[in-house]
Amino acid sequence: MKNKTWSGRFKKQINEDVLDFSQSLTIDIVLYEADISVTEAHVEMLSKCGHITQKELKKIKVGLKKLRQLADNGELPWTVELEDVHMNIESALVDLIGELGKKIHLGRSRNDLIATDIKIYLRQLLDTTIDEIRELRKTLATLAVKYHASIFPGYTHLQIAQPVTFGHHLLAWHEMISRDEKRLHNVRSMINTLPLGSAALSGSSLKLDRAMVAKKLGFDKVTKNSMDAVSDRDYVVDYAYSNTMIMMHLSRISEELILWMNPQFKLIEIDEGFCTGSSIMPQKKNPDVPELVRGKSGSVYGNLMSLLVLLKGLPMTYNRDLQEDKNIIFESIDTTISSISIINKLIKTLKLNEKNAYSLADSSFSTATDLAEYLSSKGVAFRDSHHIVGAIVKYCEKNNVSMDELSIEEFTKYSKLIEKDVYNYISVEHSVSSRKNIGSTSPKNVLKNAKLVLTSLQKKNAKK
Ligand code: ARG
Repeated sequence: MKNKTWSGRFKKQINEDVLDFSQSLTIDIVLYEADISVTEAHVEMLSKCGHITQKELKKIKVGLKKLRQLADNGELPWTVELEDVHMNIESALVDLIGELGKKIHLGRSRNDLIATDIKIYLRQLLDTTIDEIRELRKTLATLAVKYHASIFPGYTHLQIAQPVTFGHHLLAWHEMISRDEKRLHNVRSMINTLPLGSAALSGSSLKLDRAMVAKKLGFDKVTKNSMDAVSDRDYVVDYAYSNTMIMMHLSRISEELILWMNPQFKLIEIDEGFCTGSSIMPQKKNPDVPELVRGKSGSVYGNLMSLLVLLKGLPMTYNRDLQEDKNIIFESIDTTISSISIINKLIKTLKLNEKNAYSLADSSFSTATDLAEYLSSKGVAFRDSHHIVGAIVKYCEKNNVSMDELSIEEFTKYSKLIEKDVYNYISVEHSVSSRKNIGSTSPKNVLKNAKLVLTSLQKKNAKK
């Protein structure tokens, strides 16, 4: 068995089952790139502060470079006997450059090292998540341009309520997703403080230049309290929470896609490559992808809860429980990124069934509010207009006709103020185009907003 770096005070070797149970290499091996970068920055700082010579620094850096190549090519002899990624890297460096390799751990501990590695790794994944979100925003805005004037049924209580433009609905999804992007940017800025230099828990007695390491590793600041720095995992929870919000939004989008694809709604078509058949019913074309995204949101919610429970009883400072955060957050991130990506690809193939959307939007007295507003524009108090239109709807229902099928004589029985121009006023086209206030559904608004989104997305990494 390899000699453990911490085994000096032990007579016995670690029990094999304990090793098996406690090793984290199988999970934290993905941190090797971050671990090497952190070590590079750390040794440069050690040299600047006079703890190692220029010559030693050079040798260590050559060793780390070689190590990175070996690891990238899958040629590093990883072993769980060395417990985790940090000890594997250190031991491989010693194998490569000899005893000098042991100097890299001066002025640091695995406690501040793991916190630094994980922050760097999560920072990269946050950038990937942000990129995926921005792709989805682009898809939604592009479709919103295409469908900015297409009439679509707007629902409340899952009942047809008022006509909207399909572009407006797509931009409603876009709003949810762009809030997610903002949340991710916030998490990224919260994450970006450097824990290294906090050592085990109380800091280091050696003179260290923490600001220099922070700069080299792209952190905005250094942490202010060594005890908090090694025990803080708030940023992991923040990220997990952001993922739950993304998945909640994707799940709601999925629910609508499932409904709209349903032959009873028949509002959209999705490319067949994104649908699946049934093993027994030959006619079926099932929406498995959105169903899976809706289903997977449950495990991402669970990940958030697991993290909160993991942390709730921990005394200061580092406790080995903290090793368990990685599995949970990695799963949360994997599921979220793959869900955004697949939903984006699916939505790209979406085709609106314009005819059916129009006729659904034009049903269920969807412009009754417009008729009430028409009366109010002629001086009737809205409460009274509401009452009059309620009576007209009742009459139509009884006679099985829609409002635009009524003659002007039938209309005027309810109000003398109703004139011939009413027919245009209660058309679905007029209904949507008259809603011009900021945030309303008019085609003009939708086109303008969708184009603004597309322009803002062209600015690389710009926050919304
Ligand atoms: N594998 C450990 C983790 O992920 C690294 C830190 C170990 N520190 C310790 N004191 N045992 O948390």
